[in-house]
Amino acid sequence: MNINSPVPVGVFGASGYVGQELLRLLAGHPGASLVFATAESAAGERVEGLRLVRADDAPLDRAEVVLSALPHGISGRYVQEARAVGKRAVDLSADFRLSPDAVYGLTEVARPRVARAELVANPGCYPTAALLALIPLAQCGLIDESREVVIDAASGVTGAGRNPTRELLFGEVAEDFRAYAVGNEHRHLPELRATLARESGFAGDLVFTPHLLPVKRGILETIHVPLSRVLDQATAEGIYETVYADEPCVRVLHGALPSLKDVVYRNRVALGVAAVGNVRRPRLTVIAAIDNLVKGAAGQAIQNMNVMLGLPETLGLTC
Ligand SMILES: NC(=O)c1ccc[n+]([C@@H]2O[C@H](COP(=O)([O-])OP(=O)(O)OC[C@H]3O[C@@H](n4cnc5c(N)ncnc54)[C@H](OP(=O)(O)O)[C@@H]3O)[C@@H](O)[C@H]2O)c1
Repeated sequence: MNINSPVPVGVFGASGYVGQELLRLLAGHPGASLVFATAESAAGERVEGLRLVRADDAPLDRAEVVLSALPHGISGRYVQEARAVGKRAVDLSADFRLSPDAVYGLTEVARPRVARAELVANPGCYPTAALLALIPLAQCGLIDESREVVIDAASGVTGAGRNPTRELLFGEVAEDFRAYAVGNEHRHLPELRATLARESGFAGDLVFTPHLLPVKRGILETIHVPLSRVLDQATAEGIYETVYADEPCVRVLHGALPSLKDVVYRNRVALGVAAVGNVRRPRLTVIAAIDNLVKGAAGQAIQNMNVMLGLPETLGLTC
């Protein structure tokens, strides 16, 4: 693929939080040019020199690759239409994440499959961080599957999308902190379980509780991992360091734990571990941080698009 002839890319859902991030990243991408961008209520507005068109009016013939940041339940239809006329696609909604027709695009574990894929299902934001934190331990058989892995995660409010709802008003969110989707019912759990099983054979229980954090962007996950044997700090860090040594978008911290400032506006998952004392059975705390809009959505979609097109994987991205 020649970077001198940019690949024409179309974006569905360009007026949403993720879509805006896609446009921001594509504007700085030397190997891609934006050929259409869609919106619903914002149709007719101009962004990046283009007039936003309704999804039904998208000029699919102009694009070689389509990125869809439409709501789940709506995205699938437009992605199928693009596929029907031969366009390669990355879908950022949940519509294909459990589908055999798509490659689940957690780039670090699926790179060769992504390269060949016609349709990539971009992972959810919470699962991207949790999976990159858990897969190395699970692959080494270090997780005690007779006990639950507990994931407590907090996300900034852009994670809920741009559609206005009362519980996301500034007056409701500011200076507050609360859990939601309690009871292990969050819609990201099926893709988390399925991917962990596929990539590592893990068959234990996951307990996932998300929280709403009063910041615009960023997710921090505190993951309590029951271990099958004792791991000291250096050994645990060494496992991650070995697995991710050549990964440009995963940062393993040493003797330190990540926070949101390590990841916002970056296409990066930052990981840190802490050995857990004063318990009778071995346990490790893993902290994972991610920008929900970048490595959790638009950035990973561009990373996948680059892999699909044979471009340098991090072209147009700051990791
Ligand atoms: N937010 C995150 O952190 C995040 C992370 C990972 C994945 N995702 C996924 O990415 C997708 C987009 O998320 P988001 O947070 O950007 O949502 P959002 O802010 O609500 O944006 C949704 C986009 O879809 C358009 N749209 C809404 N209803 C439509 C319809 N019936 N027909 C055509 N277009 C329609 C909207 O247009 P108008 O605004 O002009 O009406 C907007 O451009 C979702 O599937 C979400 O699950 C989000």
